[in-house]
Amino acid sequence: MRPETFKDLMKLSHGFEPARILLSAVELDLFSHLSEKMTARQLAARLSLQEVPLTLVLNAMVAMGLLDKEGDDYVNGPLVGKTLVSGQGYRGHIFRHIGHCWPAWGNLSDRLRGREVEEESWSPARDEEQTRDFILGMENVTRELAPLVVGRLGLGSPLTLLDVGGGPGTYAEAFLKEYPSLREVCVFDLPKAAAVGRQNLKSRGVETSVRWLEGDFHDTSFGQGFDVVWISQVLHSLDMSGCRMLIDKAFEALVPGGELILHEFLIEDHRTGPLQAAIFAVHMLVMTGVGRTYAGGELSVWLDEAGFVDVRVQQVSDDTSVVRGRKPVS
Ligand SMILES: C[S@@+](CC[C@H](N)C(=O)[O-])C[C@H]1O[C@@H](n2cnc3c(N)ncnc32)[C@H](O)[C@@H]1O
Repeated sequence: MRPETFKDLMKLSHGFEPARILLSAVELDLFSHLSEKMTARQLAARLSLQEVPLTLVLNAMVAMGLLDKEGDDYVNGPLVGKTLVSGQGYRGHIFRHIGHCWPAWGNLSDRLRGREVEEESWSPARDEEQTRDFILGMENVTRELAPLVVGRLGLGSPLTLLDVGGGPGTYAEAFLKEYPSLREVCVFDLPKAAAVGRQNLKSRGVETSVRWLEGDFHDTSFGQGFDVVWISQVLHSLDMSGCRMLIDKAFEALVPGGELILHEFLIEDHRTGPLQAAIFAVHMLVMTGVGRTYAGGELSVWLDEAGFVDVRVQQVSDDTSVVRGRKPVS
């Protein structure tokens, strides 16, 4: 991975170009129309786009291996045909969400200079379409991951579980499938996110076993009496005091003997790897101004200090781990 030549640096710096082509293609929903072969002129007419620039983008996507070209006709390649055509199987929300993050990345240098940046450029709490893409984007990336991770937790027979920041409800559904002992899963999230999650679970026929608790976790109580509190991919959007606040609230919400499980892309103690976690820390910086990726060691200390026992770190997928601890029985 270490760049060795000037050419490697050039390649690194051009990395955003194919990304931008893909993100614009998803934003304009080109792939939904390219299930059938058509010329650039036909596609341009259908979507009210400009034929000449569209041709350049379509040709680039053939070169990138996303599309195939036969004569003057373009058609989806197998991967985009399976994942980026609207309807069942569509996973484009995550790319639309990444597209919404684009302007924030443009502010990186200003973040480092300490200049004011326009936080309003994106916020999951504000814009409904962007919230929908964010929440359904989380579903797009956890569709296979959630059952895998949940299957590795070995929770015994919990009766009640609280999923804080449960977004699309994908983990709630996985918990209900994996642990038939669960009477109910409560998902806590912001009202706009909960509306998207509720609709998502309804379309999957599992909404009846999920209770939605709406609110902002900074100022809303979680209630009490949970055997398990699950907090997945939420801490990275908070600063250290925000993380500790959530850990303390989880402690309050658990029954004695209950377990808190934090699921994250953990960074190593020296904070320079793995690569994805180190870059994701910068992503959270540009998106939130305060977030970053955390190390298993520091999360474990905060659990200890909050009163949890049997604290341990467990890798649960290729790139994610849980940090878990038990509330003492007495
Ligand atoms: C990155 S998503 C993670 C979704 C899901 N837990 C997962 O692992 O795929 C972060 C979630 O935290 C929720 N969230 C962020 N800030 C929140 C707040 N202040 N109060 C409640 N939920 C919040 C978001 O709406 C979103 O559903």
